[in-house]
Amino acid sequence: MTSTPVPRIRPRRLRETPALRRLVSETRLDPAELVLPMFVREGATSPLPIASMPGVVQHTLESLPQAVADAAAAGVGGVMLFGVPEVRDARGSGATDPDGILNVATRIAVEAAAGSLVVQTDLCLDEFTDHGHCGVLDDRGRVDNDATLERYVAMALEQARAGSELLGLSGMMDGQVAAVRDALDAGGHTDTVLMAYSAKYASAFYGPFRDAVESTLEGDRRSYQLDPGNRREGLREALLDIEEGADIVMVKPAGSYLDVLADVAAASDVPVWAYQVSGEYAMIEAAAAHGWIDRKRAVIESVRSIKRAGADAVLTYWAVELAEWIRKGD
Ligand code: PBG
Repeated sequence: MTSTPVPRIRPRRLRETPALRRLVSETRLDPAELVLPMFVREGATSPLPIASMPGVVQHTLESLPQAVADAAAAGVGGVMLFGVPEVRDARGSGATDPDGILNVATRIAVEAAAGSLVVQTDLCLDEFTDHGHCGVLDDRGRVDNDATLERYVAMALEQARAGSELLGLSGMMDGQVAAVRDALDAGGHTDTVLMAYSAKYASAFYGPFRDAVESTLEGDRRSYQLDPGNRREGLREALLDIEEGADIVMVKPAGSYLDVLADVAAASDVPVWAYQVSGEYAMIEAAAAHGWIDRKRAVIESVRSIKRAGADAVLTYWAVELAEWIRKGD
């Protein structure tokens, strides 16, 4: 007769009570490590809902300060501003106009934040170009890398002048970090932080964002954003950006690229961030609206997983609500 062996090692012991589980938790969330992306629409007279991102709006210049103050009150670490201009052209002129929507919004947000969180700006041309690409085009209609760098440099200087403390370089042009760093330093903006969207993949999960910024893009961004199948190349991009002077590197999207995030986190000597993008947000909201998943648990689990994989901070559209849950101990 064989008797059932009695386990000597019982990992379940540490899972028995809520207090024990809390004590041995490997990954904790902190509001300070959350960044809220925000959209500001030129010419809007009231905040406009974004259909594919329930709960997220395009702010007006009037609604922005209160929203920034709310994020600060919730303990969120920063806001990342995106501008939605009324008029677009081939060069994305609105991006380098001191009175362009993003630069005006930055001044307002900096004043509202009053140092209680870090005001950050997206440094990319796609919201400002009529063709919707992240750079300017050459005469054959291709994105012209080096001509785009000149536009990024001009954009960076305006953003720094407007008071942005951290520029998010999201255009995926080669050499963009070095070009912008050199120009900022030469212009006396040596304290402006550069966060590079280093491993930014050509992803279907940006779909709702394109509604949010009313993107006019036809075609795709595969000639500059990374191929979703490439893991090693994501790490290479991050290491290059660190060499070029990036203060922070990022992996984006987050949820489908946790392997890349873990690779970058293991190799990086600068902070590593991740962007939980619009499609990740929309998927959970949509499933929750159907009653198919528990919304709050899914949100917390998705962001914890991103932190577990190695992110030091996470950009997420749930930043404020999540910060409140964390503070309440939920
Ligand atoms: C480019 C930019 C994009 C996002 C952030 N910065 C769009 C893109 O590359 O197509 C996507 C963010 C999201 O989906 O939440 N300015």
